[in-house]
Amino acid sequence: MSKLAILGGEKSVKKSLNELSVKVVPGKAYDTIRGMLDRNEISMSPVVNSFEKRYAEYIGVPYSLCVCNGTTAIQAGLFAVGVGDGDEVIVPSYTFWATVGPVVANGAIPVFADVDENTYNLSAKTIKQCITKKTKAIVLVHVWGNPCNMDEIMALAKEYKLKVIEDCSHAHGAMYKGKKVGSIGDVGCFSLQGSKVLPAGEGGILVTSNKEYYDRAVSLGHYERCIKLSEDSLYRRYMLTGYGYKHRINPLAAAIADANLDRLDELNKIRNDNARYFEELVKDIEFIKFQKEESGADKVYAYHYAEYTPEKFGNLKLATLLLALAKEGVVCGSCGYGRLHLSPLYTKDGPFANDYPFNTEAYNKRFKLNELPVTVKLADRTFMAAPRFETANKEDIEQYAKAYHKIKDNLEELINYEKQQKIEDHIVNDGRSINYVKG
Ligand SMILES: Cc1ncc(COP(=O)(O)O)c(C=O)c1O
Repeated sequence: MSKLAILGGEKSVKKSLNELSVKVVPGKAYDTIRGMLDRNEISMSPVVNSFEKRYAEYIGVPYSLCVCNGTTAIQAGLFAVGVGDGDEVIVPSYTFWATVGPVVANGAIPVFADVDENTYNLSAKTIKQCITKKTKAIVLVHVWGNPCNMDEIMALAKEYKLKVIEDCSHAHGAMYKGKKVGSIGDVGCFSLQGSKVLPAGEGGILVTSNKEYYDRAVSLGHYERCIKLSEDSLYRRYMLTGYGYKHRINPLAAAIADANLDRLDELNKIRNDNARYFEELVKDIEFIKFQKEESGADKVYAYHYAEYTPEKFGNLKLATLLLALAKEGVVCGSCGYGRLHLSPLYTKDGPFANDYPFNTEAYNKRFKLNELPVTVKLADRTFMAAPRFETANKEDIEQYAKAYHKIKDNLEELINYEKQQKIEDHIVNDGRSINYVKG
């Protein structure tokens, strides 16, 4: 039995995160940006429209609109479908904060629903429990790149006349039953932030098949584009003012996203094949259960998450497991999701406590705030199990699997280590999606 790196043995994994990842800015972007700089296209550029057109085609919808980030895409998406003052919007708590913040920014009330324990996503069942007469929309997330069960959710939305905003910020290129995510709900919103699988640096893009939603999104934050809306558009008249926001993307960022679109499918395939190979190699490890896909879903391994079951591994703490993995050279981290419904913005100490229905007794009772058992369990037990394997060869992935097997074979040593080091059952949480553990 080989000795754990945490106890002075040799590391299993040789390559760093950088060595397993492609460079975020492809060569083509340098050329495009050089040309843009030469032409002084640093605020507006045809590159933006050309990227929008390509992305709309890629997703399979007629309309798309670049914005300055993914948060703004969601804000514009909510506005587009008519969410406003006092409307209730059903959201997950197992997500990045920006899925929910824009609901409040639009004057609406977020209602937190639980998620499915296998997919980590909202489901028709969890959404249905939260529907009231005031519910106007759902913001769902294809979390970690894993598509929701869109058939069931769209059927429920139709029955209750709810609008569906897909937050696809993890899921560029993911499919559900042959359709790209983002094209199934009323509006699809994508972050293009630097850590996403389609990075621009800072940027976002909204897609839709509904012309009015597109026009509304334009009018909210792009006064300079209102004049270009069709002659019969109600929103053309806002050509001087828009609705008061400015959501324009930096065109240099759009050029980076455009260059990344060239290789998105190819990289998604590499990431997926490698991730599946890794899962296959560790499938006999009982205490780790990977995020599961819905039938008909084609996820993208933008992030590689799994659930840890300490009861199946001598009650070793997740903190100890992650530390041991990190010492083996595994890029891993604890999960920052699933505590959003408990954060100050949405609870009694928050800014809305008096004049907004958050955390009033009635609100708590009705929406079972603080009672999202699956979400809370996943918040404590899910972790980032591996990075994106973009340039990895088989041997690199086998090293990752070796690290996991080494840990599995050394439970007793780990339990002793945990006791000696007095490791707290406390997961590092820096307020990020992924809280990397240092090796
Ligand atoms: C699920 C999800 N939604 C929304 C966003 C917000 O995107 P941005 O950071 O581009 O505003 C992110 C970004 O991390 C995200 O992960």
